[in-house]
Formats: sequence, structure tokens, C-alpha cells
Amino acid sequence: MESIVVMGRRPLSGTVKVGGAKNSALKLMAAALLAPGKSVIRNVPDISDVGVMADVLEHLGARVTREDHSVAVDATNIASLEAPYELVAQMRASIVVLGPLVARFGSAHVAMPGGCNIGSRKIDMHLLGLQHLGAVITFEHGFINASAPDGLKGAQVILDFPSVGATENLLMASVLAEGTTVIENAAREPEIGDLVDMLVSMGARIEGRDTSTLEIRGVRSLSPVEHTTVGDRIEAGTYLVAGALGGGPVTVVGFDPAHLEMLLAKMSAAGCDIEPLPDGATVRREGPITPVDISTLPYPGFPTDMQPQFMALMALAEGNSVITENVYESRFMFADELKRMGADIDIEGHRALVRGVGALQGAPVRSPDLRGGATLVLAGLVAEGQTVVGDVHHIMRGYEDLTGKLASLGADINLLEG
Ligand code: UD1
Repeated sequence: MESIVVMGRRPLSGTVKVGGAKNSALKLMAAALLAPGKSVIRNVPDISDVGVMADVLEHLGARVTREDHSVAVDATNIASLEAPYELVAQMRASIVVLGPLVARFGSAHVAMPGGCNIGSRKIDMHLLGLQHLGAVITFEHGFINASAPDGLKGAQVILDFPSVGATENLLMASVLAEGTTVIENAAREPEIGDLVDMLVSMGARIEGRDTSTLEIRGVRSLSPVEHTTVGDRIEAGTYLVAGALGGGPVTVVGFDPAHLEMLLAKMSAAGCDIEPLPDGATVRREGPITPVDISTLPYPGFPTDMQPQFMALMALAEGNSVITENVYESRFMFADELKRMGADIDIEGHRALVRGVGALQGAPVRSPDLRGGATLVLAGLVAEGQTVVGDVHHIMRGYEDLTGKLASLGADINLLEG
């Protein structure tokens, strides 16, 4: 088991570059299933979730090659239509192969994802949407079977909630459906815009990019393409909060600051000086951290994937703040570990009252999930003494070389094996 060891209180400054968005790259890889031939996706981060998606695609019969942040997916010969439990259990996002498989082959079998440690994450909207498009959905021996032997048919689908995964699955299903599909209350995350761009360059006809109504006119076939993944706004936000905690200046490049507008506004309100750049942003902070309330919401609201990191910032604010988590039912597990480092946090349901403290202390802690784990590392950067973060495999799912990038900013941080 690897752990990350941080000696706190080293000044951080400099420039760090983020990679392509994890949450986009995984779906772009799945989208390659829609066309026979070889698609190439560039700016793909070297993280373990990408490895799992590559395994899922290979299990289906696609040929996947990874080289220097590019992933080539040759989906000419798909031999199996089944995503097995061993892989889906490792990564829920594997569920997004359902849409493209049923769209191109008329059938798909995907293991039911289990519960997840940031709240029960349901997939009812994915399945209901596919049913609207004419797929017959059955459950057998732990698998979801989707079948549409005569092809999917365009329809209107109204999502109860702008689910990212459901929007993506339905987009990928509807591009090859007969007729027009309208997805209402669609999610508008930048990663969905990225998927729309790739699908359109494959030959799909989609209107309404970045809006909550997507209109898709089905086409008979799509062609493989080369596509570059959008920059990872959540990786970027994580380094910006690191800069805000330490004072900076820290410049993060490789992403569009417009994709982080709400986070940057809240960081400014918290006393940070934010300078947007064409391809990133610089953060510095000279005064104290001012307490600021946040509520997570679908894009363009405050991203739930930045809620833990922001809580670490608020843990050191001069006063009290309230953090409301509206997207997941239990995304505060990391807060118990943060409390072990001296944070003063009271949780009631989906709200956390954070009373700012003067300092955090280094401690042995465990990473409960991806963003919670990264948050403990950030807390360790400004804590007194040494922090050892265990269970870092969660962090490896979504951050390429977190320790190397933070070390390049001046952090005293090491990844320890065993
Ligand atoms: C994606 C991101 C994740 C991010 C989340 C919200 C990936 C791989 N992951 O997850 O990092 O935190 O968007 O921005 O892209 N829900 C239902 N029924 C459904 C679908 C979702 O009830 O059919 C609920 C979930 O339980 C959850 C909420 O909706 O509470 C948000 O889920 P969703 O937007 O679908 O997130 P994911 O696509 O799973």
C-alpha cells in the first residue's frame, strides 16, 4: 500500500500544468466504440481510471494503445458486448459503455455498479432514458441487459436531475438512433461539451451544446476521429486551492478559467487574489482567509468535486462557514480525517458547519475517496509537522503525479511504497 508523506509549512510558488480532464477522457474513450476504425484521443491523463476504461474496451474486443498521453481505440472488431463486474466494480464510470454499445450493436450487458463510497449513486435516469429510446432493459444475475434489436428510436427524454453520466450515456445512444432525440434538463458540464465536440466531428448532428436542451438528429454511421481532451478544471482547482492555502503565487495552466468561474469567485470572496489567464489562472493570498458559504450544484454551480478542497481552505478561515452538499448524499467522509488534523467541523445531514481554526496539525490519515484524499494532502501542505496519507490508490484514480507536481511548487512531499 502506498502512502503520501508531507512535511507541512513549506512555501509554495511557481507554475504547474494540468492534464486532460479525467471525467471527459473516460467518456471520449467510450465514444470511440460508436465507429469502426481507430480513434485517437489526445491529452489523456496517466491515471488509473483511464487504465480501467482501457481494460473495459479491450474486454469488449477493441484494440487500445496508450502512448505519451494519447489513447488510440480501434473499435473495428467488437467481439463481446459485456462489461464485467470486476471492471465496473473498480470504476462506476464504466456504465457509459452502455449507450454506445446498444446504439451500434443493438445489445449490451453491463454489470450493475455497486454502491459507492460518496453516497449511493443511482443509474435510474440512464436506464429510463434508454427505455424512452426503445431499449428493453432487464436485470439478470447482477447485469443490466439493454436490447434494441431493430435499433434505437429518437424520443424526448426529460431528466429529473441534470445527471452528467445519464446525459452522456443518452447522447452516445441517440447519435445513432433513428429520428430526433431531445434531452431536456441535460447536464451542462464542460466535459459534456467536449463529448459533443468529439461526437460532432465523428459525424453526429447535435444542437444545443452547453445548454440544458440537447437535440440530436440520428445518423446511420459515424467515423473515427482524432480529438484532444479539454483541460481538467478539477485538477486545476485542486492546485489553485493549494496555492490559496499557502499564499502562492501559484499559476496553474492547461485549463480554461471560464470552466471554474464559480470556484474562482468564491476564492476571491475568501480573500484570494485571482488573475485569470488565457490558459489558466494565478492565485496569491496575502491577508487572512475570509469565511465563505458554498452550496454544490450542477454546472455552472459550485462543483461537488471541489467541495472537499474548499472545506480545507475554510477550515483555516477567520470565522465560520457553512458548506452544503446538494449533489451527493454523503460526501463528507474526508471531514472526519480533517478533524483528526485539528479542523473544527460539525456535520448535520448534507450541511457542514466549519469553524475556522488558527492551524492544522500533521497526522496519519486515510484517503476515503478521490477528492477527499487530495484534500488531505492539501491540508498536510499547511499543517504543522508531518502528515501521512494512506489509501492513496483513491488519489491515483484521478491525479497524475500529484506528488511530483506539488514538489515542483516547493512542497516537501513523497510517495512511499509499501
Ligand atoms: C460525474 C463525475 C463526478 C462528479 C459528478 C457530478 C465522472 C466519471 N464523474 O459523476 O466526478 O462528481 O459527475 O458533477 O464523470 N443520480 C441519480 N440517478 C441517475 C444518475 C444520477 O439519482 O440515474 C444522482 C446520483 O446518485 C448523484 C447525482 O445524481 O447523487 C449526480 O450524479 P451524476 O451527475 O450522474 O454524476 P456521475 O455522472 O456519476
